[in-house]
Amino acid sequence: MAINPPVDATKTDAWQALQKHYDDLQSEGINLRQWFEQDPERTAKLSFEAGDLHFDLSKNLIKPETLALFADLAKAVKLQERTEAMFSGEHINNTEDRAVLHTALRRPASDEGKLIVDGQDTVADVHEVLNRIYAFANKVRSGEHTGVTGKKITTVVNIGIGGSDLGPVMVYEALKPYADAGFTARFISNIDPQDQAEKVKDLDPETTLFVIVSKTFGTLETLTNARDARRWLLDTLEKNGAIDGSDESKKKAVAAHFIAVSTNLERVREFGIDEKNTFGFWNWVGGRYSVDSAVGTILAIVLGPQRFEQFLEGFHAMDEYFRNTPVEKNVVALMGLMNVWYTDFFNAEAHAVLPYNQYLHRFPAYLQQLTMESNGKGVRWDGTPVTSKTGEIFWGEPGTNGQHSFYQLIHQGTHLIPADFLAFANTAYPTKDGDQDVQELFLSNFLAQTKALAFGKTLDEVHAEGTTNPVVAAARVFTGNRPTTSIFGDSLTPFALGELISLYEMITFVEGTVWGLDSYDQWGVELGKKLALEIAPALSKDDKALAAQDQSTQALINFYRAHR
Ligand code: F6P
Repeated sequence: MAINPPVDATKTDAWQALQKHYDDLQSEGINLRQWFEQDPERTAKLSFEAGDLHFDLSKNLIKPETLALFADLAKAVKLQERTEAMFSGEHINNTEDRAVLHTALRRPASDEGKLIVDGQDTVADVHEVLNRIYAFANKVRSGEHTGVTGKKITTVVNIGIGGSDLGPVMVYEALKPYADAGFTARFISNIDPQDQAEKVKDLDPETTLFVIVSKTFGTLETLTNARDARRWLLDTLEKNGAIDGSDESKKKAVAAHFIAVSTNLERVREFGIDEKNTFGFWNWVGGRYSVDSAVGTILAIVLGPQRFEQFLEGFHAMDEYFRNTPVEKNVVALMGLMNVWYTDFFNAEAHAVLPYNQYLHRFPAYLQQLTMESNGKGVRWDGTPVTSKTGEIFWGEPGTNGQHSFYQLIHQGTHLIPADFLAFANTAYPTKDGDQDVQELFLSNFLAQTKALAFGKTLDEVHAEGTTNPVVAAARVFTGNRPTTSIFGDSLTPFALGELISLYEMITFVEGTVWGLDSYDQWGVELGKKLALEIAPALSKDDKALAAQDQSTQALINFYRAHR
Protein backbone atom coordinates (compact mmCIF):
# COMPACT_ATOMS: atom_id res chain seq x y z
CA MET A 1 0.00 0.00 0.00
CA ALA A 2 1.44 3.37 -0.99
CA ILE A 3 1.60 5.60 2.07
CA ASN A 4 1.19 9.18 0.99
CA PRO A 5 1.85 11.59 2.58
CA PRO A 6 4.37 9.92 4.88
CA VAL A 7 3.36 9.69 8.52
CA ASP A 8 5.09 12.42 10.51
CA ALA A 9 6.76 10.19 13.08
CA THR A 10 7.33 13.08 15.47
CA LYS A 11 3.59 13.70 15.75
CA THR A 12 2.74 10.14 16.76
CA ASP A 13 1.98 8.88 20.26
CA ALA A 14 4.76 6.33 19.78
CA TRP A 15 7.31 9.15 19.33
CA GLN A 16 6.00 10.93 22.42
CA ALA A 17 6.24 7.68 24.37
CA LEU A 18 9.87 7.30 23.25
CA GLN A 19 10.55 10.89 24.27
CA LYS A 20 9.13 10.18 27.72
CA HIS A 21 11.17 6.99 27.95
CA TYR A 22 14.29 8.93 26.97
CA ASP A 23 13.54 11.62 29.60
CA ASP A 24 12.94 8.94 32.26
CA LEU A 25 16.22 7.22 31.43
CA GLN A 26 18.04 10.52 31.64
CA SER A 27 16.54 11.36 35.05
CA GLU A 28 17.19 7.84 36.34
CA GLY A 29 20.74 8.13 34.97
CA ILE A 30 22.00 6.10 32.03
CA ASN A 31 24.31 3.55 33.56
CA LEU A 32 25.17 0.37 31.72
CA ARG A 33 27.10 -1.02 34.70
CA GLN A 34 24.00 -0.80 36.85
CA TRP A 35 21.66 -2.03 34.15
CA PHE A 36 23.77 -5.16 33.72
CA GLU A 37 23.99 -5.71 37.47
CA GLN A 38 20.26 -5.22 37.99
CA ASP A 39 19.21 -7.57 35.21
CA PRO A 40 21.20 -10.81 34.83
CA GLU A 41 19.04 -11.61 31.81
CA ARG A 42 19.83 -8.35 30.03
CA THR A 43 22.15 -9.87 27.44
CA ALA A 44 19.81 -12.78 26.81
CA LYS A 45 16.87 -10.40 26.34
CA LEU A 46 18.79 -8.19 23.94
CA SER A 47 20.50 -10.87 21.84
CA PHE A 48 19.21 -12.17 18.53
CA GLU A 49 20.00 -14.66 15.80
CA ALA A 50 19.30 -13.77 12.19
CA GLY A 51 20.42 -16.10 9.43
CA ASP A 52 23.72 -17.44 10.73
CA LEU A 53 24.71 -14.18 12.43
CA HIS A 54 24.54 -13.47 16.15
CA PHE A 55 23.65 -9.98 17.40
CA ASP A 56 24.24 -8.57 20.87
CA LEU A 57 22.42 -5.27 21.44
CA SER A 58 22.85 -5.33 25.21
CA LYS A 59 25.68 -2.77 25.28
CA ASN A 60 23.33 -0.15 23.82
CA LEU A 61 21.54 2.66 25.64
CA ILE A 62 18.25 0.81 25.70
CA LYS A 63 16.41 -1.37 28.17
CA PRO A 64 14.57 -4.54 27.19
CA GLU A 65 11.30 -2.58 27.48
CA THR A 66 12.57 -0.07 24.90
CA LEU A 67 12.04 -2.67 22.19
CA ALA A 68 8.26 -2.53 22.55
CA LEU A 69 8.40 1.25 22.15
CA PHE A 70 10.47 0.82 18.99
CA ALA A 71 7.88 -1.63 17.71
CA ASP A 72 5.11 0.91 18.41
CA LEU A 73 6.99 3.50 16.38
CA ALA A 74 7.36 1.02 13.51
CA LYS A 75 3.63 0.42 13.61
CA ALA A 76 2.85 4.12 13.74
CA VAL A 77 4.88 4.83 10.59
CA LYS A 78 3.43 1.76 8.87
CA LEU A 79 6.75 0.00 8.46
CA GLN A 80 5.18 -3.32 7.61
CA GLU A 81 2.95 -1.84 4.90
CA ARG A 82 5.89 -0.01 3.36
CA THR A 83 8.00 -3.17 3.53
CA GLU A 84 5.35 -5.04 1.58
CA ALA A 85 5.06 -2.12 -0.85
CA MET A 86 8.81 -2.36 -1.51
CA PHE A 87 8.97 -6.14 -1.82
CA SER A 88 5.93 -6.26 -4.11
CA GLY A 89 7.25 -3.65 -6.54
CA GLU A 90 5.18 -0.55 -5.81
CA HIS A 91 6.83 2.63 -7.04
CA ILE A 92 8.11 3.70 -3.63
CA ASN A 93 10.92 5.65 -5.33
CA ASN A 94 8.35 8.27 -6.14
CA THR A 95 10.60 11.12 -7.31
CA GLU A 96 11.78 8.82 -10.11
CA ASP A 97 8.49 6.91 -10.32
CA ARG A 98 10.23 3.54 -9.98
CA ALA A 99 9.84 0.30 -8.10
CA VAL A 100 12.63 -0.59 -5.64
CA LEU A 101 13.29 -4.24 -6.20
CA HIS A 102 16.85 -5.13 -5.33
CA THR A 103 15.26 -7.93 -3.28
CA ALA A 104 14.12 -9.52 -6.57
CA LEU A 105 17.77 -9.87 -7.61
CA ARG A 106 18.29 -12.61 -5.05
CA ARG A 107 15.04 -14.50 -5.23
CA PRO A 108 15.45 -18.13 -6.28
CA ALA A 109 14.49 -19.24 -9.79
CA SER A 110 11.59 -21.17 -8.23
CA ASP A 111 9.94 -17.76 -7.66
CA GLU A 112 9.64 -17.14 -11.40
CA GLY A 113 6.14 -15.97 -12.26
CA LYS A 114 5.50 -14.82 -8.67
CA LEU A 115 6.62 -11.20 -8.99
CA ILE A 116 5.20 -9.56 -12.08
CA VAL A 117 5.83 -5.82 -11.83
CA ASP A 118 4.84 -3.32 -14.50
CA GLY A 119 4.27 -6.27 -16.82
CA GLN A 120 7.74 -7.74 -16.21
CA ASP A 121 8.39 -11.19 -14.73
CA THR A 122 11.21 -9.79 -12.62
CA VAL A 123 12.56 -13.06 -11.23
CA ALA A 124 12.57 -14.76 -14.64
CA ASP A 125 14.46 -11.82 -16.14
CA VAL A 126 16.94 -11.80 -13.26
CA HIS A 127 17.73 -15.48 -13.78
CA GLU A 128 17.97 -15.14 -17.53
CA VAL A 129 20.73 -12.53 -17.06
CA LEU A 130 22.39 -14.48 -14.23
CA ASN A 131 22.59 -17.56 -16.46
CA ARG A 132 24.23 -15.54 -19.23
CA ILE A 133 26.71 -14.08 -16.73
CA TYR A 134 27.52 -17.52 -15.33
CA ALA A 135 28.01 -18.95 -18.83
CA PHE A 136 30.37 -16.09 -19.71
CA ALA A 137 32.21 -16.36 -16.36
CA ASN A 138 32.74 -20.07 -16.91
CA LYS A 139 34.15 -19.42 -20.36
CA VAL A 140 36.65 -16.92 -18.98
CA ARG A 141 37.54 -19.21 -16.08
CA SER A 142 38.05 -22.24 -18.31
CA GLY A 143 40.06 -20.32 -20.89
CA GLU A 144 37.45 -20.78 -23.61
CA HIS A 145 37.06 -17.00 -23.83
CA THR A 146 40.57 -15.68 -24.42
CA GLY A 147 42.14 -12.38 -25.32
CA VAL A 148 42.50 -11.46 -28.98
CA THR A 149 45.83 -13.28 -29.30
CA GLY A 150 44.46 -16.47 -27.76
CA LYS A 151 46.02 -15.97 -24.31
CA LYS A 152 44.04 -16.81 -21.17
CA ILE A 153 42.57 -13.85 -19.31
CA THR A 154 44.24 -13.44 -15.93
CA THR A 155 43.27 -9.89 -14.87
CA VAL A 156 39.79 -8.43 -14.84
CA VAL A 157 39.50 -4.65 -14.51
CA ASN A 158 36.22 -3.13 -13.37
CA ILE A 159 35.64 0.43 -14.55
CA GLY A 160 32.75 2.15 -12.77
CA ILE A 161 32.09 4.61 -9.96
CA GLY A 162 29.76 4.88 -6.96
CA GLY A 163 27.51 1.85 -6.86
CA SER A 164 29.19 0.52 -9.99
CA ASP A 165 32.50 0.33 -8.12
CA LEU A 166 32.13 0.32 -4.35
CA GLY A 167 30.11 -2.90 -4.18
CA PRO A 168 32.33 -4.95 -6.51
CA VAL A 169 35.57 -3.74 -4.92
CA MET A 170 34.31 -4.23 -1.37
CA VAL A 171 33.10 -7.77 -2.09
CA TYR A 172 36.25 -8.71 -4.00
CA GLU A 173 38.39 -7.56 -1.09
CA ALA A 174 36.12 -9.30 1.44
CA LEU A 175 36.08 -12.62 -0.39
CA LYS A 176 39.66 -12.73 -1.67
CA PRO A 177 40.30 -16.13 -0.08
CA TYR A 178 37.57 -17.47 -2.38
CA ALA A 179 39.15 -16.02 -5.53
CA ASP A 180 41.09 -19.19 -6.09
CA ALA A 181 41.13 -19.57 -9.88
CA GLY A 182 44.22 -17.48 -10.45
CA PHE A 183 42.51 -14.22 -11.40
CA THR A 184 43.39 -10.77 -10.16
CA ALA A 185 40.82 -8.01 -10.11
CA ARG A 186 41.47 -4.29 -10.31
CA PHE A 187 39.12 -1.37 -9.99
CA ILE A 188 39.30 1.99 -11.72
CA SER A 189 36.80 4.59 -10.55
CA ASN A 190 38.26 8.06 -10.20
CA ILE A 191 38.45 10.32 -13.24
CA ASP A 192 41.82 11.42 -11.87
CA PRO A 193 44.05 10.23 -14.75
CA GLN A 194 46.61 9.03 -12.20
CA ASP A 195 44.22 6.31 -11.01
CA GLN A 196 43.94 4.68 -14.44
CA ALA A 197 47.64 5.09 -15.20
CA GLU A 198 48.67 3.39 -11.94
CA LYS A 199 46.23 0.53 -12.36
CA VAL A 200 47.18 -0.45 -15.92
CA LYS A 201 50.87 0.35 -16.04
CA ASP A 202 52.05 -3.19 -15.22
CA LEU A 203 49.27 -5.05 -17.03
CA ASP A 204 49.58 -7.18 -20.13
CA PRO A 205 46.76 -6.12 -22.48
CA GLU A 206 46.70 -9.60 -24.03
CA THR A 207 45.50 -11.14 -20.74
CA THR A 208 43.32 -8.28 -19.47
CA LEU A 209 39.53 -8.07 -19.62
CA PHE A 210 37.75 -4.76 -18.93
CA VAL A 211 34.24 -4.70 -17.48
CA ILE A 212 32.64 -1.30 -18.04
CA VAL A 213 29.92 -0.88 -15.44
CA SER A 214 27.49 2.00 -15.51
CA LYS A 215 23.78 1.87 -14.81
CA THR A 216 23.16 4.90 -17.01
CA PHE A 217 26.20 4.51 -19.27
CA GLY A 218 26.30 8.28 -19.14
CA THR A 219 28.60 8.87 -16.17
CA LEU A 220 31.45 11.19 -17.12
CA GLU A 221 34.10 9.44 -15.03
CA THR A 222 33.29 5.95 -16.25
CA LEU A 223 32.98 6.80 -19.93
CA THR A 224 36.18 8.83 -19.86
CA ASN A 225 38.04 5.97 -18.14
CA ALA A 226 36.51 3.42 -20.52
CA ARG A 227 37.67 5.38 -23.58
CA ASP A 228 41.09 5.73 -22.04
CA ALA A 229 41.27 1.99 -21.33
CA ARG A 230 40.26 1.23 -24.92
CA ARG A 231 42.99 3.58 -26.17
CA TRP A 232 45.57 1.95 -23.87
CA LEU A 233 44.55 -1.55 -24.93
CA LEU A 234 44.64 -0.88 -28.69
CA ASP A 235 47.81 1.23 -28.63
CA THR A 236 49.70 -1.28 -26.49
CA LEU A 237 48.57 -4.28 -28.50
CA GLU A 238 49.60 -2.55 -31.71
CA LYS A 239 52.91 -1.40 -30.27
CA ASN A 240 53.67 -4.98 -29.17
CA GLY A 241 52.75 -6.28 -32.61
CA ALA A 242 49.85 -8.28 -31.20
CA ILE A 243 47.37 -6.65 -33.65
CA ASP A 244 48.04 -5.05 -37.02
CA GLY A 245 46.18 -1.80 -36.27
CA SER A 246 43.51 -2.26 -38.96
CA ASP A 247 39.91 -1.37 -38.05
CA GLU A 248 39.05 -5.04 -38.24
CA SER A 249 41.80 -6.05 -35.78
CA LYS A 250 40.79 -3.27 -33.40
CA LYS A 251 37.17 -4.38 -33.50
CA LYS A 252 38.18 -7.94 -32.69
CA ALA A 253 40.37 -6.74 -29.82
CA VAL A 254 37.57 -4.66 -28.30
CA ALA A 255 35.16 -7.59 -28.62
CA ALA A 256 37.59 -9.91 -26.81
CA HIS A 257 38.71 -7.50 -24.08
CA PHE A 258 35.63 -5.38 -23.26
CA ILE A 259 32.31 -6.32 -21.76
CA ALA A 260 29.65 -3.97 -20.39
CA VAL A 261 27.05 -3.89 -17.63
CA SER A 262 24.27 -1.34 -17.88
CA THR A 263 20.54 -0.64 -17.97
CA ASN A 264 21.12 1.50 -21.07
CA LEU A 265 21.87 -1.01 -23.81
CA GLU A 266 21.52 1.62 -26.54
CA ARG A 267 24.43 3.66 -25.18
CA VAL A 268 26.55 0.52 -24.75
CA ARG A 269 26.04 -0.25 -28.45
CA GLU A 270 27.04 3.31 -29.36
CA PHE A 271 30.24 2.84 -27.35
CA GLY A 272 31.06 -0.16 -29.54
CA ILE A 273 30.62 -3.07 -27.17
CA ASP A 274 28.95 -6.10 -28.63
CA GLU A 275 25.43 -6.93 -27.42
CA LYS A 276 26.43 -10.52 -26.68
CA ASN A 277 29.07 -9.17 -24.29
CA THR A 278 26.60 -6.91 -22.50
CA PHE A 279 24.74 -7.79 -19.33
CA GLY A 280 21.70 -5.75 -18.42
CA PHE A 281 19.75 -4.85 -15.34
CA TRP A 282 16.73 -2.66 -14.70
CA ASN A 283 15.82 0.80 -13.51
CA TRP A 284 14.32 -0.68 -10.33
CA VAL A 285 17.85 -1.48 -9.10
CA GLY A 286 19.49 1.57 -7.53
CA GLY A 287 23.25 1.93 -8.12
CA ARG A 288 24.11 1.50 -4.43
CA TYR A 289 21.82 -1.54 -4.26
CA SER A 290 23.25 -3.23 -7.34
CA VAL A 291 26.24 -5.37 -6.37
CA ASP A 292 24.03 -8.47 -6.55
CA SER A 293 22.90 -7.64 -10.11
CA ALA A 294 25.01 -7.84 -13.29
CA VAL A 295 27.13 -5.17 -11.59
CA GLY A 296 28.72 -8.13 -9.79
CA THR A 297 29.86 -9.74 -13.08
CA ILE A 298 33.53 -9.33 -12.14
CA LEU A 299 32.76 -11.25 -8.94
CA ALA A 300 31.11 -14.11 -10.82
CA ILE A 301 34.31 -14.32 -12.91
CA VAL A 302 36.89 -14.19 -10.14
CA LEU A 303 34.93 -16.05 -7.44
CA GLY A 304 33.00 -18.32 -9.76
CA PRO A 305 29.24 -18.68 -10.29
CA GLN A 306 28.80 -21.07 -7.38
CA ARG A 307 30.17 -18.59 -4.85
CA PHE A 308 28.18 -15.78 -6.41
CA GLU A 309 25.04 -17.91 -5.93
CA GLN A 310 25.91 -18.44 -2.26
CA PHE A 311 26.36 -14.69 -1.94
CA LEU A 312 22.85 -14.13 -3.35
CA GLU A 313 21.44 -16.80 -1.03
CA GLY A 314 22.82 -14.89 1.96
CA PHE A 315 21.02 -11.73 0.86
CA HIS A 316 17.80 -13.65 0.37
CA ALA A 317 17.99 -15.28 3.80
CA MET A 318 18.29 -11.87 5.48
CA ASP A 319 15.57 -10.35 3.25
CA GLU A 320 13.16 -13.11 4.26
CA TYR A 321 14.07 -12.76 7.92
CA PHE A 322 13.43 -9.02 7.78
CA ARG A 323 10.19 -9.35 5.87
CA ASN A 324 8.70 -12.09 8.03
CA THR A 325 9.84 -11.45 11.60
CA PRO A 326 7.66 -9.35 13.94
CA VAL A 327 9.37 -6.07 14.77
CA GLU A 328 9.96 -6.73 18.52
CA LYS A 329 12.02 -9.80 17.56
CA ASN A 330 13.37 -8.46 14.29
CA VAL A 331 16.94 -7.38 14.96
CA VAL A 332 17.24 -5.75 11.53
CA ALA A 333 14.22 -3.51 12.11
CA LEU A 334 15.31 -2.88 15.70
CA MET A 335 18.77 -1.76 14.61
CA GLY A 336 17.20 0.72 12.18
CA LEU A 337 14.87 2.04 14.89
CA MET A 338 17.74 2.23 17.36
CA ASN A 339 19.69 4.36 14.89
CA VAL A 340 16.73 6.78 14.84
CA TRP A 341 16.74 6.67 18.66
CA TYR A 342 20.37 7.75 18.76
CA THR A 343 20.02 10.33 15.99
CA ASP A 344 16.84 12.04 17.13
CA PHE A 345 16.76 11.55 20.89
CA PHE A 346 20.45 11.42 21.83
CA ASN A 347 21.44 13.83 19.07
CA ALA A 348 24.15 11.51 17.77
CA GLU A 349 25.62 12.64 14.43
CA ALA A 350 27.88 9.79 13.45
CA HIS A 351 27.84 6.01 13.39
CA ALA A 352 31.03 3.97 13.34
CA VAL A 353 31.34 0.61 11.62
CA LEU A 354 34.33 -1.31 12.93
CA PRO A 355 35.04 -4.66 11.30
CA TYR A 356 37.38 -6.95 13.20
CA ASN A 357 38.25 -8.64 9.96
CA GLN A 358 40.82 -7.13 7.61
CA TYR A 359 39.01 -8.50 4.56
CA LEU A 360 36.14 -6.11 5.34
CA HIS A 361 38.41 -3.08 5.05
CA ARG A 362 36.27 -1.50 2.30
CA PHE A 363 32.97 -2.25 4.05
CA PRO A 364 32.72 1.14 5.83
CA ALA A 365 33.33 2.92 2.50
CA TYR A 366 30.65 0.80 0.87
CA LEU A 367 28.22 1.62 3.68
CA GLN A 368 28.94 5.32 3.30
CA GLN A 369 27.32 5.35 -0.12
CA LEU A 370 24.57 2.94 0.86
CA THR A 371 23.47 4.86 3.91
CA MET A 372 24.38 8.48 3.18
CA GLU A 373 23.29 8.63 -0.46
CA SER A 374 20.05 7.01 0.69
CA ASN A 375 19.18 8.99 3.79
CA GLY A 376 21.18 12.22 3.48
CA LYS A 377 18.05 14.21 2.68
CA GLY A 378 16.04 17.10 4.02
CA VAL A 379 12.69 16.70 2.27
CA ARG A 380 10.23 13.87 2.63
CA TRP A 381 8.71 11.79 -0.14
CA ASP A 382 5.77 14.20 -0.43
CA GLY A 383 8.11 17.18 -0.91
CA THR A 384 7.63 18.60 2.59
CA PRO A 385 10.57 19.34 4.90
CA VAL A 386 11.64 16.63 7.32
CA THR A 387 10.47 17.05 10.88
CA SER A 388 13.51 15.66 12.69
CA LYS A 389 17.20 15.14 12.14
CA THR A 390 17.87 12.56 9.41
CA GLY A 391 20.80 10.53 8.13
CA GLU A 392 23.85 9.38 10.02
CA ILE A 393 27.46 9.99 9.12
CA PHE A 394 28.80 6.49 8.60
CA TRP A 395 32.52 5.92 8.83
CA GLY A 396 35.02 3.41 10.11
CA GLU A 397 38.16 1.38 9.67
CA PRO A 398 39.01 -2.17 10.58
CA GLY A 399 40.02 -2.89 14.13
CA THR A 400 42.64 -2.99 15.49
CA ASN A 401 43.99 -0.27 13.16
CA GLY A 402 41.21 2.11 14.22
CA GLN A 403 42.12 1.54 17.88
CA HIS A 404 45.46 3.21 17.24
CA SER A 405 43.85 6.12 15.45
CA PHE A 406 40.38 7.51 16.21
CA TYR A 407 39.03 5.29 19.02
CA GLN A 408 40.33 7.85 21.50
CA LEU A 409 37.49 10.16 20.47
CA ILE A 410 34.89 7.40 20.76
CA HIS A 411 36.11 6.48 24.26
CA GLN A 412 36.66 9.89 25.80
CA GLY A 413 35.49 12.58 23.37
CA THR A 414 32.33 14.67 23.68
CA HIS A 415 30.46 13.07 20.76
CA LEU A 416 28.20 10.10 21.28
CA ILE A 417 29.12 7.66 18.52
CA PRO A 418 27.15 4.43 18.36
CA ALA A 419 29.39 1.76 16.88
CA ASP A 420 28.77 -1.56 15.16
CA PHE A 421 31.51 -4.11 15.79
CA LEU A 422 31.64 -6.92 13.22
CA ALA A 423 33.65 -10.06 13.85
CA PHE A 424 33.96 -13.69 12.76
CA ALA A 425 35.16 -16.59 14.87
CA ASN A 426 37.22 -18.22 12.13
CA THR A 427 39.87 -16.89 9.79
CA ALA A 428 40.93 -17.89 6.32
CA TYR A 429 44.52 -18.24 7.54
CA PRO A 430 44.79 -19.47 11.15
CA THR A 431 48.10 -18.38 12.68
CA LYS A 432 49.96 -19.18 15.86
CA ASP A 433 52.59 -17.03 17.50
CA GLY A 434 54.27 -19.59 19.72
CA ASP A 435 51.43 -20.94 21.83
CA GLN A 436 49.25 -17.92 21.19
CA ASP A 437 46.50 -18.19 18.57
CA VAL A 438 46.73 -14.79 16.87
CA GLN A 439 43.02 -14.78 16.05
CA GLU A 440 42.27 -15.02 19.76
CA LEU A 441 44.51 -12.07 20.44
CA PHE A 442 42.71 -10.20 17.68
CA LEU A 443 39.20 -11.04 18.89
CA SER A 444 40.09 -10.23 22.48
CA ASN A 445 40.58 -6.68 21.22
CA PHE A 446 37.06 -6.60 19.79
CA LEU A 447 35.66 -7.80 23.11
CA ALA A 448 37.87 -5.48 25.14
CA GLN A 449 36.86 -2.42 23.16
CA THR A 450 33.11 -3.02 23.48
CA LYS A 451 33.60 -3.70 27.19
CA ALA A 452 35.66 -0.54 27.78
CA LEU A 453 33.15 1.57 25.85
CA ALA A 454 30.20 0.21 27.81
CA PHE A 455 31.60 0.09 31.33
CA GLY A 456 34.45 2.58 31.31
CA LYS A 457 36.71 3.16 34.30
CA THR A 458 35.75 5.25 37.33
CA LEU A 459 37.95 7.71 39.22
CA ASP A 460 37.99 5.30 42.16
CA GLU A 461 39.31 2.56 39.92
CA VAL A 462 41.97 4.89 38.55
CA HIS A 463 43.03 5.75 42.11
CA ALA A 464 43.00 2.09 43.08
CA GLU A 465 45.49 1.47 40.27
CA GLY A 466 47.83 3.86 42.02
CA THR A 467 47.41 7.08 40.03
CA THR A 468 47.52 9.87 42.56
CA ASN A 469 48.21 12.94 40.41
CA PRO A 470 44.70 14.47 40.03
CA VAL A 471 45.35 15.79 36.52
CA VAL A 472 46.53 12.43 35.25
CA ALA A 473 43.76 10.64 37.15
CA ALA A 474 41.08 12.82 35.52
CA ALA A 475 42.53 12.09 32.09
CA ARG A 476 42.46 8.35 32.78
CA VAL A 477 38.75 8.17 33.60
CA PHE A 478 36.46 6.53 31.02
CA THR A 479 32.83 7.53 31.40
CA GLY A 480 31.54 4.35 29.73
CA ASN A 481 27.92 4.23 28.50
CA ARG A 482 29.18 4.45 24.93
CA PRO A 483 26.86 2.28 22.86
CA THR A 484 27.97 -0.63 20.72
CA THR A 485 26.30 -3.46 18.83
CA SER A 486 28.26 -6.66 18.35
CA ILE A 487 27.61 -8.69 15.22
CA PHE A 488 29.36 -12.04 15.35
CA GLY A 489 29.51 -14.75 12.71
CA ASP A 490 31.20 -18.07 12.13
CA SER A 491 33.28 -17.19 9.04
CA LEU A 492 33.24 -14.48 6.42
CA THR A 493 31.74 -16.63 3.68
CA PRO A 494 29.99 -15.39 0.51
CA PHE A 495 26.69 -16.26 2.25
CA ALA A 496 27.55 -14.26 5.40
CA LEU A 497 28.62 -11.27 3.33
CA GLY A 498 25.31 -11.32 1.44
CA GLU A 499 23.54 -11.37 4.81
CA LEU A 500 25.57 -8.41 6.07
CA ILE A 501 24.82 -6.28 3.01
CA SER A 502 21.10 -7.03 3.12
CA LEU A 503 21.16 -6.21 6.85
CA TYR A 504 22.43 -2.69 6.21
CA GLU A 505 20.16 -2.19 3.18
CA MET A 506 17.16 -2.96 5.36
CA ILE A 507 18.41 -0.85 8.29
CA THR A 508 18.68 2.05 5.84
CA PHE A 509 15.14 1.35 4.61
CA VAL A 510 13.75 1.32 8.16
CA GLU A 511 15.40 4.66 9.00
CA GLY A 512 14.15 6.17 5.74
CA THR A 513 10.63 5.00 6.48
CA VAL A 514 10.60 6.62 9.93
CA TRP A 515 11.99 9.85 8.51
CA GLY A 516 9.60 9.81 5.53
CA LEU A 517 12.44 9.78 2.98
CA ASP A 518 12.61 8.44 -0.54
CA SER A 519 15.83 6.55 0.19
CA TYR A 520 16.20 5.55 -3.45
CA ASP A 521 16.82 8.80 -5.31
CA GLN A 522 20.01 10.92 -5.14
CA TRP A 523 19.25 14.35 -6.55
CA GLY A 524 21.90 15.86 -4.30
CA VAL A 525 24.68 14.64 -6.61
CA GLU A 526 23.34 16.39 -9.72
CA LEU A 527 24.27 20.05 -9.24
CA GLY A 528 28.00 19.43 -8.90
CA LYS A 529 28.02 17.19 -12.01
CA LYS A 530 26.38 19.93 -14.09
CA LEU A 531 28.69 22.66 -12.79
CA ALA A 532 31.78 20.54 -13.52
CA LEU A 533 30.81 20.44 -17.18
CA GLU A 534 30.37 24.23 -17.21
CA ILE A 535 33.71 24.84 -15.44
CA ALA A 536 35.85 22.47 -17.57
CA PRO A 537 36.15 24.92 -20.52
CA ALA A 538 37.29 27.69 -18.17
CA LEU A 539 40.26 25.54 -17.15
CA SER A 540 41.16 25.14 -20.83
CA LYS A 541 41.47 28.87 -21.29
CA ASP A 542 37.91 29.76 -22.35
CA ASP A 543 37.76 33.29 -20.91
CA LYS A 544 34.02 33.62 -21.37
CA ALA A 545 33.49 30.50 -19.25
CA LEU A 546 35.95 31.91 -16.70
CA ALA A 547 34.09 35.23 -16.51
CA ALA A 548 30.85 33.37 -15.78
CA GLN A 549 32.27 31.99 -12.51
CA ASP A 550 32.05 33.48 -9.02
CA GLN A 551 35.14 35.30 -7.71
CA SER A 552 36.44 32.43 -5.59
CA THR A 553 36.16 29.91 -8.44
CA GLN A 554 37.79 32.40 -10.83
CA ALA A 555 40.72 32.85 -8.49
CA LEU A 556 41.22 29.10 -8.18
CA ILE A 557 41.08 28.66 -11.95
CA ASN A 558 43.61 31.45 -12.35
CA PHE A 559 45.91 29.66 -9.93
CA TYR A 560 45.56 26.52 -12.05
CA ARG A 561 46.24 28.42 -15.29
CA ALA A 562 49.33 30.02 -13.78
CA HIS A 563 50.74 26.64 -12.78
CA ARG A 564 49.88 24.58 -15.83
O1 F6P B 1 26.59 10.18 -8.72
C1 F6P B 1 25.74 9.32 -8.10
C2 F6P B 1 25.48 8.08 -8.89
O2 F6P B 1 24.36 8.25 -9.66
C3 F6P B 1 25.35 6.90 -7.95
O3 F6P B 1 24.10 6.80 -7.38
C4 F6P B 1 25.73 5.78 -8.83
O4 F6P B 1 26.01 4.63 -8.10
C5 F6P B 1 26.91 6.37 -9.54
O5 F6P B 1 26.56 7.73 -9.75
C6 F6P B 1 27.30 5.73 -10.83
O6 F6P B 1 26.28 5.77 -11.77
P1 F6P B 1 26.28 4.86 -13.05
O7 F6P B 1 26.26 3.44 -12.60
O8 F6P B 1 25.06 5.23 -13.82
O9 F6P B 1 27.52 5.15 -13.84
